[in-house]
Amino acid sequence: MIKKRPEDLRSHKWFGVDDLRSFGHRSRIKQMGYSREDWAGKPVIGIINTWSEINSCHTHFRQRAEEVKRGVWQAGGFPIEMPAISLAEPFQKPSTMMYRNLLAMETEELLRSYPCDGVVLMGGCDKTTPALFMGAASMGLPAIFLPAGPMLRGNWRGNTLGSGSDSWKYWAELRAGNIDEKDWEEIEDGIARAPGTCMTMGTAATMMSSADALGLTLPGVSSIPAADSNHSRMATRSGRRIVEMVWTDLKPSHILTEKAFENAITCVMALGGSTNAIIHLTAMAGRLGLKLDLVRFDQISKRTPWLANIRPSGKYLMEDFFYAGGVRGLMGELKDLLHLDCLTVNGKTIGENLNGADIYDTDVICRRGKPLSKEGGLAVLDGNLAPNGAVIKQTACDPSLVKHKGPAVVFSDYNDMAARIDDETLEVTKNSVLVLKNAGPQGGPGMPEWGMLPIPKKLLKQGVRDMVRISDARMSGTSYGTCVLHVSPESFVGGPLALVETGDIIELDISARKLELHVEEDELLRRKKAWIPPERKFKRGFGAIYANHITQADVGCDFDVLEGTEAITDPEIH
Ligand code: FES
Repeated sequence: MIKKRPEDLRSHKWFGVDDLRSFGHRSRIKQMGYSREDWAGKPVIGIINTWSEINSCHTHFRQRAEEVKRGVWQAGGFPIEMPAISLAEPFQKPSTMMYRNLLAMETEELLRSYPCDGVVLMGGCDKTTPALFMGAASMGLPAIFLPAGPMLRGNWRGNTLGSGSDSWKYWAELRAGNIDEKDWEEIEDGIARAPGTCMTMGTAATMMSSADALGLTLPGVSSIPAADSNHSRMATRSGRRIVEMVWTDLKPSHILTEKAFENAITCVMALGGSTNAIIHLTAMAGRLGLKLDLVRFDQISKRTPWLANIRPSGKYLMEDFFYAGGVRGLMGELKDLLHLDCLTVNGKTIGENLNGADIYDTDVICRRGKPLSKEGGLAVLDGNLAPNGAVIKQTACDPSLVKHKGPAVVFSDYNDMAARIDDETLEVTKNSVLVLKNAGPQGGPGMPEWGMLPIPKKLLKQGVRDMVRISDARMSGTSYGTCVLHVSPESFVGGPLALVETGDIIELDISARKLELHVEEDELLRRKKAWIPPERKFKRGFGAIYANHITQADVGCDFDVLEGTEAITDPEIH
């Protein structure tokens, strides 16, 4: 094992050299009230904090950053907190997905341009987790992830409320006239009542669990509720550990191997996790030069049982999952499907970390012998409507719709859908297939989470609660229903989805992994010739940069200039 000396530290170039520039760096550190004893010869630990007053999921991060610093000091490091753009899922428009790569770039460049030797990455709200690790992986410094952790269970008159999932559920009941405005306001009061991320198995919980399975967090910590004092202690332990990681030069490239990604995918499937994980894990792997294609996700899904009984696919919430054993409990049950020799941030292997792991409530995390389903949560579809693939969360579908054939009702974009979906004259039945175009990476832009199209009001009144819906959008991990997502290539760039017209017959068969548009080849060719590409929405600024570099969903929606492992040299220190 490598053991670095103080003069081997990257920060030594800033502070340890005897020249005018180092004098400048040292005098400016002293300007902040630090003495030589505080930093000399110590690893500088960047703490990238995505706290913001607009991010309700990260409200505890100011205090957690202090707790991380406590650990860094204890272990003989020098902590420097650096704020980064906070991607707040509920507030940022058109979609946080549009800004994931911006946070990844910011993370990479903060680490490159400042004298950091290692980093603690503080994230959790959906895109922050992949973004922080994409950037840190590209920079290649020792890095540990501090997951924000889920908020406590929601509550309404004694009923448990889950983020997102119960918003959609009770919104449908309000539109159907089954609850009134007063009930709706009480639900608003009770559904988000503590710091932390969504506490359903949404994208946040899925990606924090993935980070755990990848070995990027201290083992098993990803589901500690944000409000639990265990969370504070975990923050301090993470601070202590990153200092040791710097001395032994334990970097993301040692941890994020192909096998580690297979472990994370297995975990996502057993969790019934978010469809978004496919895009994010693909993009993260791309930063290590690894290619995860959709087929691999599907192969792993087919061999992995669904074990975590968490909403929206199941019954419980993340707080219950933590008490039941969390990711360690879940992974302990999947040992034969995991690569146990993968290294993790604590310097031990996954196998070593799983010693003694157990499940304490088998209704929340099922045993292998009694899974919720024999297959994992996600399925990858193929067919002439999605030549490069599409994704569906099969555990969240109404069983009557997993094999379905019906006529399309097409919406040209989100505004068209919003204007017509509740129109009483809309010709739609429960057998129709709702199709939304121009909601993909370029079309949204940013691939907003519009994929769970609302059920038309007139059908809600008839008691319909699920229909087949197809789009090139994403869907919140907290959403549910028979929603085919990430259709690739997207309609905005002329994928077959662009050619679908109202009345066309579409066939979905999840067990056969099939998504077919039943329109003659000649007719599709005619439509293709007549197709006019839509205009880009952003002509300048970040939107224009985004449009010029974003890749499609099946390859992770990274920027083409950020993929790969081409080395970027450190700045010259002048
Ligand atoms: Fe932040 Fe769901 S809104 S995790």
